[in-house]
Amino acid sequence: MPETLDMNHLPSPEFCVQEVRRWTDAMPQQPLAYVHSFGCQLNVADGEKLSGILKQMGYGFTGDIAKASLILYNTCAVRENAEDRVFGTLGSIKKLKRENPALIICVTGCMTAQQQAADKIRESYRHVDIVLGTSAVSRLAQMLYAVMHGKKYAQDIEIYTDIPEGQEAVRESSFKASVPIMFGCNNFCTYCIVPYVRGRERSRRPEHIIAEVRELVQQGYREIMLLGQNVNSYGRDLENGMDFPALLRELDKIEGEFWIRFMSSHPKDATPEMMDAILACRHLAKHLHLPVQSGSDDILRRMNRRYTVSQYLEKVRYIRSRDPEFSLTTDLIVGFPDETAEDFEGTLAVMREVRYDNVYSFIYSKRTGTKAAEMPDATTDAEKSERMQRLLALQREISVENNRRFLGRTIRVLADGQSRKRPELLTGRSTENMLVEFAGTPELIGTFVNIRITETHNGLVTGELVSV
Ligand code: SAM
Ligand code: SF4
Ligand code: F3S
Repeated sequence: MPETLDMNHLPSPEFCVQEVRRWTDAMPQQPLAYVHSFGCQLNVADGEKLSGILKQMGYGFTGDIAKASLILYNTCAVRENAEDRVFGTLGSIKKLKRENPALIICVTGCMTAQQQAADKIRESYRHVDIVLGTSAVSRLAQMLYAVMHGKKYAQDIEIYTDIPEGQEAVRESSFKASVPIMFGCNNFCTYCIVPYVRGRERSRRPEHIIAEVRELVQQGYREIMLLGQNVNSYGRDLENGMDFPALLRELDKIEGEFWIRFMSSHPKDATPEMMDAILACRHLAKHLHLPVQSGSDDILRRMNRRYTVSQYLEKVRYIRSRDPEFSLTTDLIVGFPDETAEDFEGTLAVMREVRYDNVYSFIYSKRTGTKAAEMPDATTDAEKSERMQRLLALQREISVENNRRFLGRTIRVLADGQSRKRPELLTGRSTENMLVEFAGTPELIGTFVNIRITETHNGLVTGELVSV
């Protein structure tokens, strides 16, 4: 009955969940969903909530795409190659729809929050049934209800500002959990698409966050990752709320052995109070990801980052004056429009001064709709790749030297899996977020262990199990 369905006045999400549940319950076999999130941890957290809704609607889950009755891709738009990957993947599943016309294909997330990407899917990927943007958690049930009533293509890419509380998540790990504390971004860094696809900043109420973390710890989660595009501005939009350092101190009162991590932290808002809280709180991991992006004041100004190199280094000095070995990591963009050789030398100079444990470096990718996309750019691709190679070589040197500080020490590690290259070894992370490999049995995964470090490498240290 598609002609009777008014897409502007769909029943409530709760009603749609129940209706779709009745539909799936009536199927001869439980339908299975294949859910994959691209992009950052915030997107993965959204994907876990979308799986939670699918579970409520009667779906089971499969890692084998050929067995799925519903495929959901939760997409990323941060760089062009992220979008290319999604379009490539969508092309490759066309044959599945041909073989099984009842298959439901759903695309959500940051990429599809852009009108031009939604249009491209509608026109060129006609096997897709549902397109939702970054408010998919609120709208998925309604779109499935529409498809269930014969709608051939259902789309809603509006950014809604409601914060759906209480939605169950199907979490990928049984010991590491992500907890978004805020959504959206107000910063409009000139290269970045995120504010356009995720809307303005909105914070969750602290009591909801605290209750969720308490419950996760009770369930046995050992690492809680607090997420937001700029966690330092948490709470600014709340009446009678709290700021980020206060939230950290409240969460630290929760009993049990667990670590709290967070990302990302914008340097312009990284305050001494926040750094004092990290150092003082027993549950807070002793690591800070502080994305500098560039070591040139001119580039930082054109990026609209609103700090200078010396203001950034001042913050680094503050935390290192209290803990000289404090672990810092960063994000760097190479080849921002018209980046000069001198600008790039500034980036290398910051790396030498800060001595990051790790850097996440990206070649600038032009994003339609952002301010930087309008800026002239005379730097060639060859120059950009050559700079990237130099940056990676320098970081390799720094990481190798930094990692030597762990040699001979016994450190607490959260075991998190088996090594891919050497499956007889387990992997884990230290409080500094250092990757550690050691010999151990799989039942240790998800527990804290003490490891004596015997060898150090680039991006990895190895050691032996001392005690649990
Ligand atoms: N909100 C976080 C912050 O400000 O640090 C970062 C969010 S963004 C998803 C992660 C990283 O992607 C950024 O820190 C930046 O280095 C990189 N990035 C964002 N837009 C980019 C672009 N257009 N080209 C290359 N890298 C980009
Ligand atoms: Fe993008 Fe800047 Fe916001 Fe981070 S702070 S999400 S880089 S606009
Ligand atoms: Fe994350 Fe990519 Fe969106 S990095 S916020 S999923 S654009």
